[in-house]
Amino acid sequence: MIRLVVGNPRAYPVVIGQGLNRLVQPNGPRAILYDQAVQGFAEGLADILDISSRLALEGGERAKTLEAYARCLSWLAEEALPRDTTLYVVGGGTLTDLGGFVAASYLRGIEYISFPTTTLAIVDAAVGGKTGLNLPEGKNLVGAFHFPQAVYADLEALHTLPLPLFKEGLVEAFKHGLISGDPTLLSLEPLRPGGAGLEEYLARAVSVKIRVVEADPTEKGERKKLNLGHTLAHALEAATSHQLSHGAAVAYGLLYISLVGRALGGQDLVPIVQRLLAWLEPPPLPELSWERLLPYLARDKKKLGASLSWVVPMSLGDIRIEPVDDKTLKQAYGEFQELINQSGQAAGSRP
Ligand code: GLY
Repeated sequence: MIRLVVGNPRAYPVVIGQGLNRLVQPNGPRAILYDQAVQGFAEGLADILDISSRLALEGGERAKTLEAYARCLSWLAEEALPRDTTLYVVGGGTLTDLGGFVAASYLRGIEYISFPTTTLAIVDAAVGGKTGLNLPEGKNLVGAFHFPQAVYADLEALHTLPLPLFKEGLVEAFKHGLISGDPTLLSLEPLRPGGAGLEEYLARAVSVKIRVVEADPTEKGERKKLNLGHTLAHALEAATSHQLSHGAAVAYGLLYISLVGRALGGQDLVPIVQRLLAWLEPPPLPELSWERLLPYLARDKKKLGASLSWVVPMSLGDIRIEPVDDKTLKQAYGEFQELINQSGQAAGSRP
């Protein structure tokens, strides 16, 4: 078991290991919100913590809707849960985002404890206090920073996670390797659910996230580096009507932004990211012209409040937030398309 601590703006532990429910000492009123995909794990936890107020929801993006949010608030209100309630949130990143936002807003804020059950939620979503919802108009348009009381990443919950989802979450850990320069995080091939070294690997990845969010909890500057690869990723997700999963989109986004970094005179990180794609085996990318992506890119930039800047890797551990001219961006996209065609990752290019 590995225990890390986030120190700012409030101190809370992030514990990674097996059988963590024995560490929790519940007190006061409590309720549990969980992803029905991890029902066995969540119900077991609820029994041990003696929680009778339980709500299961469908995970995935359906969890991050106004409808799901309203359902959670009504559930807490119907159960007449008071302000000193602790909400236990068990599930992947969409559940921890939703549950955190429910906790941020019910009775103007109650405590919550997260049990992330996917690799994505462990290394990224559950740590750092970003909570929120999507709107029909776009993703993550509503939210709040609301920091948990604790995060327990119980690796037993990963046993039922499908392998593609296990791998996709680790794309964010790989991203943390690029950000920190920790070479261990760039080596994904040995990792298996339940395998040796997973606990240590996840803890290293989470440590990177902790360092970044401690330095900049509310994303005024440094935390924007966590968006590495995400600008193109969000555009690819939107342009494919979210047929492309987030992990796959981020892997493609990391390849693209390493081409941009290289064009700007940075270290050639392209082969390292190509290894990520070879390991991940993402679904092929449909043919999408640069012009088709531009409106989505503009929307993402506007949302980030950074109309001209991109998060660019100049070398391992040296990530810059800086403007990039249109010509470089477009040329890098042409190279990106060539690379994915050559490697058979473009739709229709597989033999
Ligand atoms: N997922 C990026 C962040 O927490 O800032």
